[in-house]
Amino acid sequence: MTIIILDYEDPFVAQEANREFQQRGFIFIKNHPLSVDLLSRAYGEWSEFFDQSLGMKGIYHFNVEKAGPKDGYFPLYAEHAKGIVDPDIKEFYHFYPWGQTPHDLMSIAKKIHDGLLKMGLCVLNWISKGDYLSAHEDSNLSDIVDHGESTVTRILHYPPLDFENISPRLRSAAHEDVNLLTVYPAATQEGLEFKDNEGIWHRVPSDPSIVAIGIGDMLALWSRGRLQATTHRVINPSPDHNYSRYAFLLFLHAKNYVQLSPEHTAASYLAQRFRDNGVLTQRTPKIHQKF
Ligand SMILES: [Fe+2]
Repeated sequence: MTIIILDYEDPFVAQEANREFQQRGFIFIKNHPLSVDLLSRAYGEWSEFFDQSLGMKGIYHFNVEKAGPKDGYFPLYAEHAKGIVDPDIKEFYHFYPWGQTPHDLMSIAKKIHDGLLKMGLCVLNWISKGDYLSAHEDSNLSDIVDHGESTVTRILHYPPLDFENISPRLRSAAHEDVNLLTVYPAATQEGLEFKDNEGIWHRVPSDPSIVAIGIGDMLALWSRGRLQATTHRVINPSPDHNYSRYAFLLFLHAKNYVQLSPEHTAASYLAQRFRDNGVLTQRTPKIHQKF
């Protein structure tokens, strides 16, 4: 199946996006409004954060005990895919505009967050025009989306691999995201792959002119399965390209109180996923307190 790259400015893009989501399960977009220069600068600045010692990064360690969204730094091996024992080979930072952030990174993180949020809301608006949601009950997507409390920009660092000791693990094992939508601007290296509705894996280009969008479990639940969550993974680099990989992404969430299914609100569903991913079994280090 040939991959189609949609044009953000195309007047028929909503229609085409819905067709792609139904037939394939994800979309790629060109002519998007996210500045390539801004993205490049942001990767440069955040790479300096991850280059620091664990002690320095740990000042911003997320608070395990705090209920709800978790802002701050998640060290290497903090998370594994649901149903997978081995942790992913990544460290990351959860940026919320209301959360803890190193002062010198706040401005660029907020710009990236705002740019990704704008795109995510636009794509959600396209989805709301899809007729496959028309049989759903009374709420619509613009009413359930969270703009501030739970929606988060994740900044990821996948370090170079020690091939002797990690085989056959992946940088990130195959999984589905918990949220409504995930917005993926280009990473600094390839490796991200999406599985289409026919079970075929597709390489996501690390071309800054293209942004990828995947569906999350919350939207799959909310749509009563009419949209499928996008299965994705990050494969390992070859030994001759074994460098750090940095990636931004935005998890667009539903508001906490939204009833996604008879069993779950968005808040209880997120809490369940934290348990499934091993995040709540992390010990908060003593360095959690800021100096
Ligand atoms: Fe993911």
